[in-house]
Amino acid sequence: MKSQLEKLKQEALLALKAVKDVVQLQELENSIFGRKNGELTSIMKGIKDLGGDMKKAVGQLANEVKEVIESAFEEKKQELTAEEWKENLQKEAVDISQPSLPIKESGHYHPMTIVHQELEDLFTSMGFMVLDGPELESDYFNFEALNIPQNSPARDTQDTFFIKDNPNLVMRTHTSPVQVRAMQKYGAPLRTVVTGRCFRNEATDGSHEHTFYQMEGLVIDKDISIANLIAVMKELLQGVLKREVEVRLRPGHFDFVEPGFELDMRCLVCEGEGCSACKHSGWVETLPCGLVHPEVIKHGGLDPKEWTGFAFGLGSMRLCMQKYGIDDIRLLNSGDMRFLKQF
Ligand code: FA5
Repeated sequence: MKSQLEKLKQEALLALKAVKDVVQLQELENSIFGRKNGELTSIMKGIKDLGGDMKKAVGQLANEVKEVIESAFEEKKQELTAEEWKENLQKEAVDISQPSLPIKESGHYHPMTIVHQELEDLFTSMGFMVLDGPELESDYFNFEALNIPQNSPARDTQDTFFIKDNPNLVMRTHTSPVQVRAMQKYGAPLRTVVTGRCFRNEATDGSHEHTFYQMEGLVIDKDISIANLIAVMKELLQGVLKREVEVRLRPGHFDFVEPGFELDMRCLVCEGEGCSACKHSGWVETLPCGLVHPEVIKHGGLDPKEWTGFAFGLGSMRLCMQKYGIDDIRLLNSGDMRFLKQF
């Protein structure tokens, strides 16, 4: 039996050397270790019939032979897998010197994406960080924390879509909830902008959508004044529109700023003549803004005696319309290729 084991070891190692692929390897493995007819299995089964010292010595040798063959198999397996990998890589290799197929039509960014990217670039260059917030928002962040309690008439101006069976969740009506979220998370001083979708139960027309985009801006620091606010607003409009724009500032009421303003710009679609983009008034309501209300700063976990700030909520779809001379907001969400191909 001892010589049988030695012979098996030599033959197995020799046969392994000749193996060329995984199938051959499996066949060989089966002929040696197979449960029914495997050569080594049969020898090992016979050991139990040996007596005393012989049983012990042959058993020990059989285990040694088994280990040697097994580790040779493992080595071969790795060698074959590496070969296979190499072959596959060669098969899949891309010839980078081959000329490419002609491009028939290439895609491009949606005009809203272009405007948001430009806005985010502009604000990051001024040291603002770009944040994000949930579209499905809690009543607390969307209204309460912004100084708009239950039963406040301000809620009527932002009617939205509520979630059945959960009145505490709303599709956010504006990006302003991120103001309090940002203060709670990052504290002060703080400079941030947030672009995102907002939702309102709105009868749509040339300048109103039920699903539209805003960009929120928030600065919290010491001694922030209206002069800081106006300087940033001007930078914003000129940075995106790349031209001088005529603006007007009028008082505006929002429960979360004090004082509050509406910054309108002269309509660039009709040059102030009146069109559907400006509700035939010659002016576009684009940038409501103001100094952050002390109550909101408190909800943000900061002391309003120590910290002040300004905030704005840019209607970025309306700005996009001004930039490209689009006279109906509904085109932007329409997915109409005849419209989109123009950008
Ligand atoms: C707000 O949403 C405030 N959160 C803005 C704000 C932020 C004020 C921070 C002060 C400080 P308002 O409802 O006016 O405000 O909307 C802001 C802008 O979003 C509007 O000027 C307009 O440009 C745009 N907008 C509002 N409703 C729609 C709509 N249905 N379709 C398209 N754009 C809209």
